[in-house]
Amino acid sequence: MSDYQDILVSEPESGVITITLNRPAARNALCNNLLKELAETLDASISDERIKAVVITGGEKVFAAGADIKEMAELDTVGVMNDIRPSYWRRIAQYPKPIIGAVNGFALGGGCELMMHCDIVIAGDNALFGQPEINLGIIPGAGGTQRLLRTVGKSMAMQLVLSGEFITAEQARDFGLVSEVTIPEMSYKRALKLAKTIAKKPPIAVRLAKESLLKAYETTLETGLNLERKAFTLLAATDDRREGIAAFMEKRRPEFKGK
Ligand code: CAA
Repeated sequence: MSDYQDILVSEPESGVITITLNRPAARNALCNNLLKELAETLDASISDERIKAVVITGGEKVFAAGADIKEMAELDTVGVMNDIRPSYWRRIAQYPKPIIGAVNGFALGGGCELMMHCDIVIAGDNALFGQPEINLGIIPGAGGTQRLLRTVGKSMAMQLVLSGEFITAEQARDFGLVSEVTIPEMSYKRALKLAKTIAKKPPIAVRLAKESLLKAYETTLETGLNLERKAFTLLAATDDRREGIAAFMEKRRPEFKGK
């Protein structure tokens, strides 16, 4: 797609692009520019009909070691207040298409938080997850305290954030942070396969399913159920619903058009 400095972006293939975090010398630390490039790539792909799902990976050795501590060291309170980074994180959080994470090695601090922005995560068995910000005299700043607690529950969220200790891929799976654990060489292949499977599904239904599921984080059950019902009703107006049901009746494969 475009020339970036801190990420690599593949051409769309079978409805999927892969974004690879690419600062190996800094353990893929999420410097401002990397986050900016990530947010811009995701934004640009929203209206690109060739792209139905995104895989984010850091490669086989490391996912991301967190915010760039060297950049962070430059900021005082006013600098942090005026920081542009939260706006990049918001754009990633609001991305409407599915994001599949393929996570190997360290996913720490902002790296763990980026992993939690992915809708599905496949982890290599060498992955280590943690929020070590406490060791720097700070706390997670990209949603870690909120998203962790909602996913892993109070005790494990407290343990990770207060102690700065890491957990393994198997522990992360047991706590629902990741859905599958593979050998490191397979995590990307599995994530890509899953993304390609999702890319074949009716895009409007995928989008509304993601939106409804994410709403469960932040609303009451009643509000969430209402939202789900409205999305379900809206889908009755789509050609893809007619096509999906007709294909089932006619015992053939559906051809979804995203309409
Ligand atoms: N920021 C900037 N540079 C980093 C970095 C980071 N988060 N993590 C690693 N690096 C750099 C190191 O400074 C080092 O650079 P030099 O070669 O120039 O010295 C290089 O990457 C390699 O690092 P190590 O030698 O430490 O590599 P290692 O394999 O022995 O250890 C590690 C890897 C365990 C990830 C270790 O580097 C580490 O603990 N990194 C910091 C992790 C951390 O504290 N993350 C939280 C950041 S704060 C945050 O993320 C806030 C937020 O919520 C948004």
